[in-house]
Amino acid sequence: MENNILVIGGTGKTGRRVAEKLIKLNQNVRIGSRNNSPSFDWENTTTYSEALKGIDRAYITYYPDLAVPGAKEAINTLTEIALKSGLEKVVLLSGKGEKEAEACEEIVANSGLNYTLVRASWFNQNFSESFFLDPILAGHVELPMAAAEIPFVDADDIAEAVVKVLLDDSYNNQTITITGPRKLTFREAIQEISNQTKKSINFRDVTLDNYIKSMKNAGLPKDYVWLIGYLFKEVLGNHENQIVSNDIEKVIGRKAVDFSEFVKKTTQTGVWNQSIVSSL
Ligand SMILES: NC(=O)c1ccc[n+]([C@@H]2O[C@H](COP(=O)([O-])OP(=O)(O)OC[C@H]3O[C@@H](n4cnc5c(N)ncnc54)[C@H](OP(=O)(O)O)[C@@H]3O)[C@@H](O)[C@H]2O)c1
Repeated sequence: MENNILVIGGTGKTGRRVAEKLIKLNQNVRIGSRNNSPSFDWENTTTYSEALKGIDRAYITYYPDLAVPGAKEAINTLTEIALKSGLEKVVLLSGKGEKEAEACEEIVANSGLNYTLVRASWFNQNFSESFFLDPILAGHVELPMAAAEIPFVDADDIAEAVVKVLLDDSYNNQTITITGPRKLTFREAIQEISNQTKKSINFRDVTLDNYIKSMKNAGLPKDYVWLIGYLFKEVLGNHENQIVSNDIEKVIGRKAVDFSEFVKKTTQTGVWNQSIVSSL
């Protein structure tokens, strides 16, 4: 069946992949982003109605993160408008182990809409399309939480699971937890990238306090520094958060992509051998 589907953050790490997969399944996709027409901007609630007009289902990624101040209000307004406009179902991308994000999950769960919550662990693509890319290109990565073992998950797996639960109503009112199949520390992850690319990447672990200080010294915005500090401390600081889940296998019927496969595939794109670009 053909649906009209709004993909909020449809040019981002997971949204782009979700949109591509939906289009291959002959679904009508509208990208929800500031640069699309009609424009959708989380910061401007007057854009919500137009973006939702005629839409049957929606995938929501909140930018920058459901934990930031203002996220709850925005999700609440969006779901209220969506209910009134006749939306059938929503899939919300959330963060595994993010207490602050749970308030937004509850808003969706109590909205009156059919929903599926997708809680994902940290993405592989943070190393290739986001904040770890520039330090890798510079050959020098400094990160806190050296002891944390993280089941990094691939954005392609998230997208495949999202498409499945978005179109299949047997997942209504459920929470799916998606992780990669194996836990790695940051040092191990960087070592794998270094081995595969044959590029020398020096890794140094720093305390969270020093990491926050260097972000401040680099002039990064206050809100961004708070968010990164929160994500490291709250999400990675709790070992309970870092449990491997096999929900992905249950949903998409195959094993999650291993970090090594991601590294092999991504090395071939040349992204880790380019000159430095800002990926923030
Ligand atoms: N990275 C991780 O490891 C991780 C792990 C678990 C959960 N998450 C969750 O993933 C979500 C982000 O998803 P993602 O990584 O797929 O997306 P992303 O790559 O961070 O997002 C970029 C997308 O958001 C859009 N965007 C940016 N600002 C916007 C605004 N003010 N209004 C509307 N759209 C805006 C961008 O389009 P325009 O610039 O054109 O507007 C683009 O489509 C966050 O809520 C985060 O909590 C991330």
